[in-house]
Amino acid sequence: MVELMGRAIGMGWPVLLMLVGLLLYFQVSISDPVKKKRASFQTLIGILCAFLALMAISNYTHNFEGESRLLPVSLVMITIMSFVMGLYFPNISALMKIGGFMFFVAAALSGYGNWLPQVEGGFPPPVVKLDFQSMSSQQLGDEGEKIIFGGIGQSKTQGAIGKGQCPLCHGFQQGFLSERAPNLYGIPDRAIERLKEPNYHMNNVAARTTEQKEAFPGSGTATNAQEYIAESHACPSCFVVTGFGVKGSNDGTSPMPKIHKPPISLTIGELAAVDTWMYTREGKEAPAYDVIATSYEKFIPEADRPAAGGEEEKGAGGNILADGSEPTDKLFMKAGCPACHTIPGIQDAVGKVGPLLMEGSNAPNRLKDPTYKGKAKSPKEYITESILNPSAYVVKDFPDNQMPKDFGVRLTGGALNKIVDYLAQLKEGQPLPPKE
Ligand code: HEC
Ligand code: HEC
Repeated sequence: MVELMGRAIGMGWPVLLMLVGLLLYFQVSISDPVKKKRASFQTLIGILCAFLALMAISNYTHNFEGESRLLPVSLVMITIMSFVMGLYFPNISALMKIGGFMFFVAAALSGYGNWLPQVEGGFPPPVVKLDFQSMSSQQLGDEGEKIIFGGIGQSKTQGAIGKGQCPLCHGFQQGFLSERAPNLYGIPDRAIERLKEPNYHMNNVAARTTEQKEAFPGSGTATNAQEYIAESHACPSCFVVTGFGVKGSNDGTSPMPKIHKPPISLTIGELAAVDTWMYTREGKEAPAYDVIATSYEKFIPEADRPAAGGEEEKGAGGNILADGSEPTDKLFMKAGCPACHTIPGIQDAVGKVGPLLMEGSNAPNRLKDPTYKGKAKSPKEYITESILNPSAYVVKDFPDNQMPKDFGVRLTGGALNKIVDYLAQLKEGQPLPPKE
């Protein structure tokens, strides 16, 4: 409402100014006190009516594009304006009353129309159910690129990321140094080589389950390259690439989340798209869709297969991951933190790459650490600094340069504040903070 008044003034201030001028003019120029009073009063009413009319117009223009139900409000305002003018301006009274009546009828009709259940419901975004199975390998590859990087042709864009979240950890360009996780360039060829590694024997199939918590010598059970890739996605700890395991796990546990499980939750169709892209972008022929799907069915039990929702995750736009309008769980998920961090109270945030984010307890301790050389003075400042500039202080026993350094340009101020607020309230032994 206040916003509407502001907009009305913004639009019609010249008219309002003119009327106020007229009011002042009457005050000085008319000497007969009765006439003066009457003229001033009428101008005052005029100002009120002009304001109402402006509000009505601005409400109308503002809501016209949206699927708003507030349009009748404009008509009601004009109706009131017409009647008021009809009452106080006797010379145009008849005209205004007739006009007012017409607007009243219009308002009533459109108001009633809006109360009826809206069949069209303001154009819900069409739910595109992608039929991965019947796509050509080119189309499938394009979908894969979208899932990994957020758009077709985005694989060459620095920092591009899609719902698959792979670039949080993996490099994809040939020759790029990828410290957090193996560079995925060359994976179609490398996959076969992995099967030949001494600790990849599948001689211990009996001890292997698809819910593998930890790799052990001989735990890999893939029989070809595509199965290796499927196993890497569906059961990261079934075989851990040497040197990339969770610290202290002796390469027994992978920090990579199961891609078919929350927070990422890709369907088998989406996984097939991702894999197809990894072959075709290197100019290699991808296995047929059915072959890829079958490879995943080997590792993902029926009950664990995400239903093909076809839900197109709408990003906050451009390079921004989240804008802060999301509910808390979703906000963290979109920002990508749960893939690496365990965050108390946040759904599916069980990542093991970074520290447990009990920041209400951690942050004050970090600030007290004599080796702390950052600029933060308060816990909240410390948390903000850790997100915007992760290398300002590197948590003991964790490597530097693992956490992405571009959150400053990927999160809006609103998103950042909301994240910092939540983390700052997480204290050991205290109840979880409220979520939106
Ligand atoms: C949180 C970080 C993280 C995310 C997110 C992640 N990975 Fe990984 N991934 C790893 C790490 C670390 C390894 C190496 C350890 C292992 O073998 O599991 C790995 C291993 C792999 C491998 C085996 C690589 C090899 O050289 O043998 C493949 C394939 C793979 N990831 C694909 C993906 C894809 C595709 C996505 C996105 C859908 C993804 N990963 C998301 C961290 C991640
Ligand atoms: C690719 C993995 C990765 C992602 C994604 C990631 N982080 Fe981190 N984060 C780390 C690692 C590793 C550390 C520890 C090393 C360091 O201090 O830089 C860390 C440290 C931190 C710290 C300091 C913790 C402490 O107790 O001092 C905070 C706070 C933090 N991350 C918040 C976040 C938030 C919020 C997000 C999401 C917007 C996020 N991180 C995304 C890997 C990640």
